[in-house]
Amino acid sequence: MDVARRSGRSLRRARSLLLGAVLLAVAGVPAPAGAQSPAATCQAPLELSSDGRAGPLALERSAYTITVADSGRLSCDQARRELRGFLERDDGRLPRPWTVDRQTSTFTRGDPRDAGAASFSLERRTDPAAAAAGGGFLDELQDFAIVWLPIIFMALIAFGLLWMLRYMPRTKPQEIKPQSSDSIGWEEVAGVEEAKAELREVVEFLRDPKRFRALGARVPKGILLHGPPGTGKTLLAKAVAHESKARFFAQSASSFVEMFAGLGAARIRRLFRVARKQAPAIVFIDELDAVGATRGNDVSGEKDQTLNQLLVELDGFAGGDDLVVIGASNLLDKLDPALLRPGRFDRQIFVTPPDLTGRKQILSVHTRGKPLVEGVDLELVARQTSGLTGADLANICNEAAIFAGREHREAIGTRDFQAAIERVVAGMQSRRVITDHEKRVVAYHEAGHALCSELLPSIEKVHRISIIPRGRALGYTLNLPEEDRYLKTKAELMDYLVVLLGGRVTEHLIFGQITTGASDDLKKVHEISRSMVTQYGMGTDLQSKQLPADDYSMSDATRRMVDEEQQFIADQAHRRALRMVGEHRPLLEAFAQRLLDNEVLERADIEQLVAEHEAVQPALPRLEPLNGGASAAPRIAASEGLERGGRSEPGAG
Ligand SMILES: Nc1ncnc2c1ncn2[C@@H]1O[C@H](COP(=O)(O)OP(=O)(O)OP(=O)(O)O)[C@@H](O)[C@H]1O
Ligand SMILES: [Mg+2]
Repeated sequence: MDVARRSGRSLRRARSLLLGAVLLAVAGVPAPAGAQSPAATCQAPLELSSDGRAGPLALERSAYTITVADSGRLSCDQARRELRGFLERDDGRLPRPWTVDRQTSTFTRGDPRDAGAASFSLERRTDPAAAAAGGGFLDELQDFAIVWLPIIFMALIAFGLLWMLRYMPRTKPQEIKPQSSDSIGWEEVAGVEEAKAELREVVEFLRDPKRFRALGARVPKGILLHGPPGTGKTLLAKAVAHESKARFFAQSASSFVEMFAGLGAARIRRLFRVARKQAPAIVFIDELDAVGATRGNDVSGEKDQTLNQLLVELDGFAGGDDLVVIGASNLLDKLDPALLRPGRFDRQIFVTPPDLTGRKQILSVHTRGKPLVEGVDLELVARQTSGLTGADLANICNEAAIFAGREHREAIGTRDFQAAIERVVAGMQSRRVITDHEKRVVAYHEAGHALCSELLPSIEKVHRISIIPRGRALGYTLNLPEEDRYLKTKAELMDYLVVLLGGRVTEHLIFGQITTGASDDLKKVHEISRSMVTQYGMGTDLQSKQLPADDYSMSDATRRMVDEEQQFIADQAHRRALRMVGEHRPLLEAFAQRLLDNEVLERADIEQLVAEHEAVQPALPRLEPLNGGASAAPRIAASEGLERGGRSEPGAG
């Protein structure tokens, strides 16, 4: 509005300057003495609203045009002024030295015969109505436009701005009351014990700050919850809101982001101002990465400005207030280092996908209030869901209830949970129709995976094989680990590569052709073998260092070496898979045949088939894991993909 007022003022000033210039031009600079100036008809007419007399001359009510004989001697304004003087006199005479010629209605100052005398004449306008209406109305309109149009224009702009403001997202810091309807208690958050312990500490501090102050402790400033999506970060914050007796303000960082410069920063200021007033308080900023990303990458600078404001607020210049900031983010690597330094988000809690016990607890939290068939083993479900997050488990419980409801059952049974797991892990069953030949290819492909998994002791047991298309896959083999694993040996990774290649190799062996169905397997083989060489130092010659795959400082020689090592590993796995499938063809055929008959093979079927074949072929040689040329198999921290990789979904698709 300030800008509007200022621009209005400058517009008015420009307008008055212009007007002044026009007036000056109209009034004209007085002609130098003695110069002969031309006769002039005055622009503005003289309007008489009633009859009158100018000396002996009777003038009717009308508009009159004044013409001055010599504008150098007598200007239009002077003539008009004189005439008004005449009209005001009551004695019917003209003041001296004025005379009038009644014929021509010409007033002369001095002797009319004198060539230098000043004079002006009057002429009644021919169309008095038009004259009265036209000239005056246009003038008035002009005056009106000059005065009001700029004002109306400015008012319209102001109105437009206000109207736009109404439609701008209004984000108020949202205060969450501990007793609100969707309040979450500690007992509803399961499987994230470390995070709970940390947060409980903060809650305790805020409940009784004096106890801690007496010991010289200061309230922790910021706590950052980070981890994969769906692990319960927002849920933890909700529990804090419920359990702490402090005021709790929540706002998503995305609500700070705005295209208007400075608005995000203003919103942050407001959030902290409101929270500080109510201290002790907790401020929760969800999805922190929306504003917390490393500075310098934002073209407009608005995000950087917002982040700077957040940094300033976290420093808390006023000090002394009991304000705890909790942030949640999926992308710790992307956050600006300034956010993470001690004094700001100094406590960083990694919220991981839950372990077996955690999963069991989460399942019991989410089955609370759901009727279960007696004997449903949640532990089994927990075992089968390694690597899944709390959100996945909540989803499984919900899907199981839906399955049971669809079949009009009163309670949820084990098979509902199995169906739900399958849906969450492998995707929705798709209605794709495949030909008989394709079905045979898929069956053999999956049988190949299953065979290799069964023969390699380090690989998790096959839980189910299916050739019913689900999601993007035409079939899948589901391996489930018996326990949570965090480290994998080189031998285990090599075995996994063999299992992945088992499908492709079988297709080639049986049909003499290869298909596009193995693309996902091959991609995984590439990723794992590459990581083995570059990240885990599991190559033959490259055991002592990590070589970031896209490091441009790597020499061509090293690059070639990496490629060769990777090729060596993949080839080794391929040869091994080929041998394995070739040597156990009867079992492979049995798997494939049973799959074609039933479409799905469960663990029990698989065990039965293996047992039958061991009876026929007693010494089924289970191959020992391959050493892969390493003298001592190094232990490695398994990557996230591998942790989840309990479930291999090497579907033919
Ligand atoms: N530890 C847990 N205990 C119980 N339920 C959980 C847990 N973790 C997740 N859930 C369930 O998953 C849902 C989603 O969790 P939440 O919103 O907290 O995930 P998040 O970690 O904030 O994910 P994002 O990073 O995507 O925001 C919760 O509403 C809850 O039902
Ligand atoms: Mg969240």
